[in-house]
Amino acid sequence: MFPTVSLISVSVALASVVWAQTFPATPLASKSFPWPTGVPYQADTENLVRGRQTGYNICNSTTQNQDSLCQTSFINSIDDFCIWGPKDPNSVVGDTEGEAVAWCSKPGHGGRLIPEGTLKGLQWTRTPDYVQIVGHIDQTRINMAAGDFGGEMDPHGADLRGNPIGGLVYSNGWSGNNDSYTQVIEWHNFVGNNFFCFKACDPSKTNAAAFCEHTLDRIGCAYNAPNNAQEGVFEACQGENQDFPGVYTVNGVATTYRQPPESLGAITTMPYTARVPASSNCVTYSSAEIFAALASVSPDASVTPSSSSGTASTSQPTSSAPSSRAGTSSGTAAGAIETGNGADIVVMSGIVTTLGVVFSALFLS
Ligand SMILES: *[C@@H]1O[C@H](CO)[C@@H](O)[C@H](O)[C@H]1NC(C)=O
Ligand SMILES: *[C@@H]1O[C@H](CO)[C@@H](O)[C@H](O)[C@H]1NC(C)=O
Repeated sequence: MFPTVSLISVSVALASVVWAQTFPATPLASKSFPWPTGVPYQADTENLVRGRQTGYNICNSTTQNQDSLCQTSFINSIDDFCIWGPKDPNSVVGDTEGEAVAWCSKPGHGGRLIPEGTLKGLQWTRTPDYVQIVGHIDQTRINMAAGDFGGEMDPHGADLRGNPIGGLVYSNGWSGNNDSYTQVIEWHNFVGNNFFCFKACDPSKTNAAAFCEHTLDRIGCAYNAPNNAQEGVFEACQGENQDFPGVYTVNGVATTYRQPPESLGAITTMPYTARVPASSNCVTYSSAEIFAALASVSPDASVTPSSSSGTASTSQPTSSAPSSRAGTSSGTAAGAIETGNGADIVVMSGIVTTLGVVFSALFLS
């Protein structure tokens, strides 16, 4: 009996060590930092398996430059938002999501400015439970490699430190006062295939976590943030809520889609097409007017453009067929969006193996 018992204790101890090295004491999504006075220099101060937080959360006029490592993002309106993108040119999101930095549409947030020519069409939507911005982009101009199918950023991640690690998001969208910000607890930002979607769920609403679902990282914007964004159109709309990502109804029966494990290979078929909710009261804008401050901002000199003309890659759906996005930019092998992070996977299987030893020991005893 003794050897078995000590094997159990050793295994439990090992498991706790692995746990401690991987997970923060408090998950990022459980941390509350009122803006501006409660924002710390770094939301994540630990040095765990994925290392330390790359940048900082206190962002100001000193940090506002094209090398900024600001990791505080804002999602306020069609002309005022920051999306997450790589810090170094020609990066693959799946390899760098833990270190993404804020790329902003306006000066004043202490992050990098989105270079001129990046934003090619946007739809801002405000619904009862969330605000969302979706758009066509030239992703190379915010440091993504041409052709990268991208990934998902959210405040969870396999190790609960978020992607980016320590990334914080705020919005003035629910306070009724442009100077009063709410910390967005549940959000997701997919970027890849020259497309992005960023949804921030109102933390005062019961279903914030469901609308900002974070586990469907391989099926992209068409399933996580169905929308009507069109290339060449910049519009702000009101809208109905989407269905919860992954939940679909056939013949009156609601079903929940479960993303298959990566070991089963690429996702080549989907059992449903996500319903695009109705939008209304759309107001269109001139991008030259609302993004005047970006006109003089160039991408990093070492960026490899997506093509000689600088336009979006051919995998991008055209504006005339928004529904075809389900089969192109996401949801299929052609555009499956996957955040595969080698470090996470290794860490997680380490834990599973260790716990496996614990369980076999228990079983044998
Ligand atoms: C500006 O932000 C930097 C980086 O977070 C910080 O070190 C510095 O103290 C800030 N400056 C002010 C005046 O808050
Ligand atoms: C608040 O921001 C919105 C969006 O930028 C703008 O349209 C509105 O005029 C602002 N309100 C005030 C009072 O500044």
